Amino acid sequence: MRVVLLVLLILAAKVQAADPHSFSNFALVSHPTLALDLTADFDKQQLHGFVELELDWHHPDVRELILDSRDLSIKKVMGQSAAGKWLQLSYSFGEKSPTHGQALRIEFPSQLPKVRVYYHTSPQASGLQWLTKEQTSEKQHPFMYSQSQSIHARSWIPLQDTPAVRLNFQARIQTPKQLLAVMGADNSANVDKDGDYFFRMPQAIPSYLIALAIGDLEFKAMSERTGVYAEKVWLDKAVAEFSDTEQMMQVASAMYGDYPWGRYDLLILPASFPFGGMENPRLSFITPTVIAGDKSLVSLIAHELAHSWSGNLVTNGSWHELWLNEGFTNYVENRIMEQVFGPERALLERQLSVQDLENDLDQLDAKDTLLVTDYTGRDPDEAFTQVPYVKGMLFLQFLEQRVGRAVFDPFLKNYFQTFAFQSMDTEKFLRYLRKTLLTDPDIVSMGEILEWLYQPGLASTFVAPQSDAFKQVDQQRVLWQQSGTLTDLQTNSWSIHHWLHFIGQLAATVDTAQLQQLDQGFGLSQSQNAEVATAWFKVALAKNYSQALPALEQFLIRVGRRKFVVPLYQQLSQNPQHLEWAKAVYQRARAGYHPLTQSAVDKLLKL
Ligand code: BES
Ligand code: ZN
Repeated sequence: MRVVLLVLLILAAKVQAADPHSFSNFALVSHPTLALDLTADFDKQQLHGFVELELDWHHPDVRELILDSRDLSIKKVMGQSAAGKWLQLSYSFGEKSPTHGQALRIEFPSQLPKVRVYYHTSPQASGLQWLTKEQTSEKQHPFMYSQSQSIHARSWIPLQDTPAVRLNFQARIQTPKQLLAVMGADNSANVDKDGDYFFRMPQAIPSYLIALAIGDLEFKAMSERTGVYAEKVWLDKAVAEFSDTEQMMQVASAMYGDYPWGRYDLLILPASFPFGGMENPRLSFITPTVIAGDKSLVSLIAHELAHSWSGNLVTNGSWHELWLNEGFTNYVENRIMEQVFGPERALLERQLSVQDLENDLDQLDAKDTLLVTDYTGRDPDEAFTQVPYVKGMLFLQFLEQRVGRAVFDPFLKNYFQTFAFQSMDTEKFLRYLRKTLLTDPDIVSMGEILEWLYQPGLASTFVAPQSDAFKQVDQQRVLWQQSGTLTDLQTNSWSIHHWLHFIGQLAATVDTAQLQQLDQGFGLSQSQNAEVATAWFKVALAKNYSQALPALEQFLIRVGRRKFVVPLYQQLSQNPQHLEWAKAVYQRARAGYHPLTQSAVDKLLKL
């Protein structure tokens, strides 16, 4: 008997070790249900209240619950006995890690069914941004929101912060009276804007998908089950920009099974939101920088919606295997775009993302260009490169092309169904693949698959997507460079995608005078499309085209999306001529950035 127990414990410890980014002992005791009761204090920039965890003890000898935490102040910890009696429990913090936070160890006299942790967050919580009213679009009321992925939920809730396990939650959130709280959850209980809000998440989700935002928000429906929450200035613009959301849901459901989460709403955040989008269940968080006025950047909505299957339903078990979330999602995103906007646009978007991937491959360490990576001891947010996204997508497109869509589509649909509400790892995926798709080695061999997963760079079986449209753009560029006349560029019919391809080729092909000619002709420094502006600023910096600097300054102050601002500061910091200028701009921009963006730029500028 003892031997069996020992073996079980060792096994459990192994499972537990499967997520090196969590201190928690989730294999020995877990919390399938969580209840939050928090009040938002905008003066102190703190959430305070308690979390109540219902515990599931997996082993008779265990008397300790280990949670993840980061910069939390704990007031007290109470345990509740089966008879309903509350008693105070003792707790201690583990050693502090700059990237992982701290273990919070709670001691139990016996295996109690419930525990409550009373706490408040720090104004610097890595998973929260607190904006003063001046930093919002309407400038009337303050705003706050969470961004929990990858391991920042622990900075606003003490919990087992790992994608290896799932939980249901309920929440009561109290706010100042004029403000509205929203969560990635069922919020149908909230009919009045009264400062007291209730939420319920009936489906089990991993901790990184717990999400909250509070602000001067209004709602407008787009269809019966989709709508937009935003500050007033954005509301109508967002509704118009994202009016294809319902259709996207329909085409995705037709391919991959019914939409599993009830409603799908969008929340438009302040421009300091550090990501393009975040797939919080039922309520994707979206940067306003994709509201371009012409639907040119709505693949981001297709992307966050696609996570409803890849990621939220079938979830990467650890951050080493982010490709299982993001690669699948980029694949599904592109299929949705193809159905809603046609195969030509989907092809152009694929080709642009391959370009982005190639740029990243040039810069990354070879070991970080594998699909299955090792981020042990590092900040898992560093895995946010084009590798899991685009290489992951290309791998699935490779499989799709080999077996054909008639086989691949039902395969993927069954995959989402078979592993719904479970965590996935690459080995498990491989076993499933072998059983279902790889029955004929003449069509795809295991060697080819292993190369995609475990070898650096692009696999030898990669076939580059190629469009005639971009070839024509290249031809026109050459014509213009030979003649020097701008009218050789027939840009009237160009979409944003053509422009992005065109600008992406400039650094290697043109000189500063030619950049100036383009800027005068097309006003590229002033582009209101954030993707075009960023691509253009990168070329401008590479070529020392300093007339773009005033517009770049405005951009860096207005926008805080990491994918845009971090590479721009990086480029600036590498040029001694621009370093002081960058520091001065950053001094004005920093207060408006999210804590994650701040720490990334601090590091680059060595502050
Ligand atoms: N889940 C990601 C954002 C994320 C990834 C946050 C890793 C923290 C760590 C989200 O779905 C995403 O991929 N966003 C992209 C959008 C894009 C690829 C269309 C982004 O923010 O740029
Ligand atoms: Zn994603």
